[in-house]
Amino acid sequence: MKSLSIKVRQLEESATLAFTQLARKMRESGVDVANLTAGEPDFPTPPQVKMAAVRAIEENFTHYTANQGIPELITSIIEKFERDNGLRFERSQILVSCGAKHTIYNALQAICNPGDEVVIPAPYWVTYPEIVKLVDAKPVIVQTTAAEHFKISAAQLRKAINAKTKAFIFNSPGNPTGSVYSQGEIEELADVVKDSGVFVIADEIYEKVVYDGVRHFSMGSIKQIKDQVITVNGVSKAFAMTGWRIGYLGSSTPVAEAAAKVQSQVTSNATSIAQRAAAAALSAPSDDVQKMVEEFCRRRDFALKEISKIPDVELQDPKGAFYLFPSFKSFIGKRMNGALIKDDMDIAQYFLKEHHVALVPGCGFGAKNHVRISYACSMKELEKGLGGIAEGCRKLRDAY
Ligand SMILES: Cc1ncc(COP(=O)(O)O)c(C=O)c1O
Repeated sequence: MKSLSIKVRQLEESATLAFTQLARKMRESGVDVANLTAGEPDFPTPPQVKMAAVRAIEENFTHYTANQGIPELITSIIEKFERDNGLRFERSQILVSCGAKHTIYNALQAICNPGDEVVIPAPYWVTYPEIVKLVDAKPVIVQTTAAEHFKISAAQLRKAINAKTKAFIFNSPGNPTGSVYSQGEIEELADVVKDSGVFVIADEIYEKVVYDGVRHFSMGSIKQIKDQVITVNGVSKAFAMTGWRIGYLGSSTPVAEAAAKVQSQVTSNATSIAQRAAAAALSAPSDDVQKMVEEFCRRRDFALKEISKIPDVELQDPKGAFYLFPSFKSFIGKRMNGALIKDDMDIAQYFLKEHHVALVPGCGFGAKNHVRISYACSMKELEKGLGGIAEGCRKLRDAY
């Protein structure tokens, strides 16, 4: 038999999914594992959204739709962009796809040639470098530090850009760090974007999940670079709709049309029923979203309090998304039951096997010695998981 493609062999598997699956297997074998890996809200999809989908099925709205998306959803997206983000788009500038992940893939296919470089600040969402590789472009990782709240500076961005750079992937609020860039910080980055002419993929999927009065700001609302910015969003996180698979972009017409061309040959339209549901979600009052964010805030405060009690674990105070990204650096090099803990992968394995808490190792996010803790799970699971982490750290501290 001939071999698989070189491209697919070079693709990393998602570290998040790998640990989620390990946790699932342990649960199936009867172990009570606290799963803090999930990147999805544990809330149900709002009732009016579900009803819109039921209506769509009853009305036999179950056939192919326009590749770009159904007219009512495109209208809702245009209104949402204007209302929430101060972004104005024509209908030809919107594309609805099967989740924001798919949206980013279509956008990168639309703009990248083989060998083009795409700048990605680390820690990053696990998928960015892999999608960049899938479109034959080259991820250029720029390391940020905890001292800088894991934010890339304008000087760092300027240094990373050269003649081969095609795009910069910008994610605020960020997964896995929870960092949120201020308007001023974004304006500084925008100056570099303007001077260099690169595209920006602005992934705003967590825009609604912000705390402590922090405000989300859309880079695409800066007029001088409007046509360079591809604003990506979706309904997964804000409306607890991860399974419905609806994402969308707003961009210049040539980019949106090119991304639509890619989509037309790969998947065609996103699911007709889910599009109706997404239109209902985007045009509904935001009470459900608000309640969900308040609950996330309560869980974040609880998790921060518990982690801060653990000596030697370093933690930033996240202002958005639903993750903590602490460093366990001081535990690296310890031995537990004879086994050396050499990196964050071993840390995550240790917590899972010995303390039944599933976390995601930082290496998948381009950050050594960290783990990602999701507090999108229930409070009960979070309490159990944090208890396991505290106990595990206590044992590790006593180890040599
Ligand atoms: C930063 C970021 N962007 C995009 C996505 C993908 O969202 P969707 O479910 O719409 O594909 C995720 C999902 O975890 C994410 O964390």
